[in-house]
Amino acid sequence: MQSKIVMDAINKVGDTQDKLLEVLIEVQAQAPGNYISETSLRDIAQGLNIPLSKAYSVAGFYSMLSTKERGKYLIQICNSGPCYINRGKAIAHAFEQVLGIKMGETTTDKLFTLEYTSCFGACDVAPAIKLNDKVYGNLTVNRAIQIINDLKEGEK
Ligand code: FES
Repeated sequence: MQSKIVMDAINKVGDTQDKLLEVLIEVQAQAPGNYISETSLRDIAQGLNIPLSKAYSVAGFYSMLSTKERGKYLIQICNSGPCYINRGKAIAHAFEQVLGIKMGETTTDKLFTLEYTSCFGACDVAPAIKLNDKVYGNLTVNRAIQIINDLKEGEK
């Protein structure tokens, strides 16, 4: 029996094998924790009639997908060339400092996850990050700290 999230995703996107990536994206978007659980991967493999190993390998291949639970706020810091040379490293460090975690980690309150990502097309406003689906560009260290403080304030 598949979970409702997986069933809804397959009903929305389609149940053929070529829909695997779209189903994975949809399941992740709807799942609490912003990730694709092992149970969901099994359900997807069953629903699309594909080997579980294929579902795992596709979920593991794309950096936009995660099989690890992530925070409510997913902060993805671009580390491709234009962002990297425009203070991207300093921005990443500022986020690590203000959140008290390293890249790839989630805060213990499950609110914030920090990840590096490759270019997502906002090079003209480098350095850029994605916070869930919203892009922030021309970031400074002070602005990065302010973003986190505003989100923390909103959670009170
Ligand atoms: S290089 Fe960072 S968004 Fe393109």
